Amino acid sequence: MRTSRTTIRSRTRLRLAGALAAALVAAGLATGPAAQADERHRPAPTLAELAQRHGRYFGSATDNPELTDAPYTALLGSEFDQITPGNGMKWYATEPERGVFDFSQGDEIVDLARAHHQKVRGHTLVWHSQLPDWLTGREWTAAELRAVLKKHIQTQVRHYRGKVFAWDVVNEAFNEDGTYRETVFHKTLGPGYIADALRWAHQADPHVKLYLNDYNIEAIGPKSDAYHRLAKELRAEGVPLHGIGFQTHLALQYGYPATLEENLRRFSRLGLDTALTEVDVRMQLPADETKLATQAAWYRDLTKACLAVRRCVGITLWDYTDKYSWIPGVFPGEGAALPWDEQLRPKPAYFAIREALGGR
Ligand code: XIL
Repeated sequence: MRTSRTTIRSRTRLRLAGALAAALVAAGLATGPAAQADERHRPAPTLAELAQRHGRYFGSATDNPELTDAPYTALLGSEFDQITPGNGMKWYATEPERGVFDFSQGDEIVDLARAHHQKVRGHTLVWHSQLPDWLTGREWTAAELRAVLKKHIQTQVRHYRGKVFAWDVVNEAFNEDGTYRETVFHKTLGPGYIADALRWAHQADPHVKLYLNDYNIEAIGPKSDAYHRLAKELRAEGVPLHGIGFQTHLALQYGYPATLEENLRRFSRLGLDTALTEVDVRMQLPADETKLATQAAWYRDLTKACLAVRRCVGITLWDYTDKYSWIPGVFPGEGAALPWDEQLRPKPAYFAIREALGGR
């Protein structure tokens, strides 16, 4: 078919008019029925887009076995701008035999993130849990374990250099009363293993943000005080520590950590970033409307607390749907902890987060 010049010119004019209308709508300047129709059909901004307006990210953990679930990965890829591997970068997965590294699971998550323009939090380098048998099944001298730890940290951090923006270098180092947890690392190397781990990680990637991460430190109390003290010491000694990760595994039956915002702020004052790294709000099952409403209010409040503190850089859910939550497996009789239900339908908590982020 031949196309005349006039048709091309009028098509160009039409396209320009369309572009102008779109720009006016985007700028909030267009009115009238057409603009209102456009407004109705415009997809709601995602949690990530809403968080970006505040200079924050909004993320979710995910796990390799879930990645075959297409509706699940579609939402994961569209709603969030940050992901954390739930298990794939843990020691048992990445160094299953001494000196033999396997980054396949972590790489799968990193590749997925890249495809969706998401950033990745590395989780985790040093933790007492989910260690390989070769490490837990024997005694170590301090010199041996130091060498093992250094090699593990540096090999993994080097592998993910430029691919993760932050690492949970040490996970769950303290007990509830603020004393050091008696892990194989503490027992064999003393408390200095934390500073060493941070220094080794920094050598392997001088640009990545290094975090200490723990649960039950959302409120001010003996455990968060221990982190505050340690962070202050480490900073004074020039140890490369950049942030504190508040896991934020909350439970309705234990009450909301009302001092969260104040607590985040005192860590900011040490010159540290903070992040809510593993958020979920569990409840005793069955869920009902009242519990779901309370849960929504908690999600709203924790989101607002992060937004209120300049150096709280972002929020990560510990997966986003009840379908893949770790809670029922670990806390029998509890669950319904996430903002999307098992059918991937948004719950009141999802709408509460949107509202806290300033979306409608
Ligand atoms: C959990 C995972 O989600 C589960 O799949 C696994 O079985 C156990 O670990 N704190 C952490 C996370 O730092 O690594 C934990 O993740 C949840 C508690």
